[in-house]
Amino acid sequence: MLIALCSLKGSPGVTTITVAVAAEWPRDAERLVLDADPAGGALALRFGLSVTPGLVSFAAAARRNPDPALLWNHTQTVSGGLRMLTAPSNGRHAQAALRALVAASGGPVLERAARAGRAVLFVDCGRMDTGSAAEAIARRADALVLVAGTEDDELAALAARLPELAAWTPRPALVLSGQGYATGEVERELGVPVLARVPRDPATAATLAGRTPIRRRRAGGLTRVAAAIARALATTTSGQHTSPPLPIGAIPGVPPQHLRYPGTLLPGPPHPAPSQPASPARPGPKNPPPGGNHPATPSAIAAPGPENTNLAERRQQR
Ligand SMILES: Nc1ncnc2c1ncn2[C@@H]1O[C@H](COP(=O)(O)OP(=O)(O)OP(=O)(O)O)[C@@H](O)[C@H]1O
Ligand SMILES: [Mg+2]
Repeated sequence: MLIALCSLKGSPGVTTITVAVAAEWPRDAERLVLDADPAGGALALRFGLSVTPGLVSFAAAARRNPDPALLWNHTQTVSGGLRMLTAPSNGRHAQAALRALVAASGGPVLERAARAGRAVLFVDCGRMDTGSAAEAIARRADALVLVAGTEDDELAALAARLPELAAWTPRPALVLSGQGYATGEVERELGVPVLARVPRDPATAATLAGRTPIRRRRAGGLTRVAAAIARALATTTSGQHTSPPLPIGAIPGVPPQHLRYPGTLLPGPPHPAPSQPASPARPGPKNPPPGGNHPATPSAIAAPGPENTNLAERRQQR
């Protein structure tokens, strides 16, 4: 199974949530976190690992031998049994290795590695700019988890790219972080369900950044949300071609959401939202404030602009 995670703007915590979800994934799987951020790897520095073996050595090996099992020879193991494929912190070197890997003979080697046995590959694709060196990997994933902050500029970037990225994989999912707009507001404006909201949890985040062993991490909110995301992905990606995914509201630990498209995590382009009350939503039992600093003003999310035309049009229709 191949699970790609990415952001679109800022640093909403993709690397942290990638490690967190992998750490919470059932231990009977062979779990591997791949550092595929075209801006440069972070895992080697964070976890005190070597850059070699890693992405560069694997990309070179894959050019000579297309056997996907070779991947495991280039990984390193951290506490808790989690494997990691490290990458150079120099973005140009990381990009060169990613492009070499994608072009390796024998077809998509990561995809083939992810199909073997009980392997689950968690790929940190970093910020998914247009033309990203990690795009080909994300497009071949079983699930693509988009991690987005909740400030105006982050949501504008999300709205602009969401339809495109949601069509890349059979199981796209949206995860929010940050102290900005409430989850319900974002769902209403974008017309898509949110899989989870990552809480601010500096202690657990520090552990997941390698500062203390993963097996000794605190059972904070970040851990609980990562476990819920892992459960949701494990459920929806196993037998993905035969059974429909679990509705979000049925996932333990993830607050019930208003599903726009029941039976999917985030299925395709946003549609016009159902008619909403004219007044902005207020925090309440179904729309708890996530520590947000902003008043809940849909129009602020849907600020008109060339990159945000759909939202602006939808707002006018109300
Ligand atoms: N839920 C959280 N609570 C508190 N701090 C967090 C949380 N998630 C991440 N952090 C911290 O925020 C910083 C950025 O996180 P991270 O590196 O995961 O973001 P990123 O999206 O991968 O960024 P980049 O685009 O630079 O790779 C790190 O110092 C991390 O420890
Ligand atoms: Mg990162």
